[in-house]
Amino acid sequence: MTYFDNSATTRVDPRVREVMDRYHDESYGNAGSMHWMGIQAGKALDEARASVARSIGASPREIVFTSGGTESDNLALQGFAFANRGKGDHIVTTAIEHHAILNTCEFLESQGFRVTYLPVDKDGSVSVDDVQRAMSERTILVSVMAANNEIGTVQNIREIGGVVRERKVAFHTDAVQSLCKVPIDVGRDNIDLLSISGHKFHGPKGVGALFVRKGITLRPIFYGGGHERGMRSSTENVPGIIGMAKALELGIAEMDESVPRMASIRDRIIEGVLSSAEGCRLNGHRTARLCNNVNFSFEGVEGQALVLVLSSEGFMTSTGSACSSKSLEPSHVLKAIGLANHQARGSLRISLSKFSTMDEAKAFLDVMPDVLGKVRFFSAQTPLGSRS
Ligand SMILES: Cc1ncc(COP(=O)(O)O)c(C=O)c1O
Repeated sequence: MTYFDNSATTRVDPRVREVMDRYHDESYGNAGSMHWMGIQAGKALDEARASVARSIGASPREIVFTSGGTESDNLALQGFAFANRGKGDHIVTTAIEHHAILNTCEFLESQGFRVTYLPVDKDGSVSVDDVQRAMSERTILVSVMAANNEIGTVQNIREIGGVVRERKVAFHTDAVQSLCKVPIDVGRDNIDLLSISGHKFHGPKGVGALFVRKGITLRPIFYGGGHERGMRSSTENVPGIIGMAKALELGIAEMDESVPRMASIRDRIIEGVLSSAEGCRLNGHRTARLCNNVNFSFEGVEGQALVLVLSSEGFMTSTGSACSSKSLEPSHVLKAIGLANHQARGSLRISLSKFSTMDEAKAFLDVMPDVLGKVRFFSAQTPLGSRS
């Protein structure tokens, strides 16, 4: 089996599992308890908070642990919007955000907020000028993802953060896909709120964090025991948090080696497929691109058929985001970069990790012409292949 679906989720690093085990087996106390085991868990939580903060240039009090990227995005947008309604009712975001942002924005619109969805160019890049022009006196928050989960385009977050800061508007970025692949520093990059998800960088699933700059107020989504300084009630997932912090620490420490290595495997796949497959285009920016992302559109095929045949050959890939890969609806991201419905339906995403190898890429390139030929043959026999 070759796992090329690392934007959906990743394998837990064995070094991460090792540090988590102790908090399942021995120090499994509630971090809020007064006894020895509670104190041990609380200490570990403090260390994890300091480590996550260090990894992004924040201070420990600015980290709120959550259940993952979706909750962090919801807490950032809903929490900020409802807490700051008195200052304005306008939010700026982009057309290519993850549904954790887009559906939250839709909910906020139903609550009386106004949302501007900025377009992107054919490579998926957001224009800094567009961000500047979209802000008005009523704007309270701008949310632009650091890197796209489907096409891998990396945004100029520092510059966008700069223009947003000049207008004294808060800036949120969903960094779920970019962490451990693109350097980020919340101070240097002018970020006020930043979403993190542990399972995208070899940590456990169901755990994440939100960076909340000192001075920013959020209205909580959950009410309860007042954990996480009142911003996120519920007993902390200590093993998960310890695992996420360790994964982030390792991921960032290893970036100098892992990023260029993943980029060279990515480029080998891009060049290999583009030079051998007819009717194929690369989606996303050629250079301002995540080191682990490849996204193609193939003429005359259904992406889902490609994924299934590749799976039978032992290659785990996807058509786009895991949340919508079973849907027949063309991807909103591919449509936003100007693809027609039939091109958007013929998409294939290959997403690498630090554990991917060049040999896996070569094996993939070896089977791809055959797989494509088979899928094209069957697509031509069915009405699906001619859908527009
Ligand atoms: C850009 C982006 N944001 C948010 C999420 C949601 O993260 P989680 O699965 O941790 O809820 C994902 C997951 O695919 C993502 O890619």
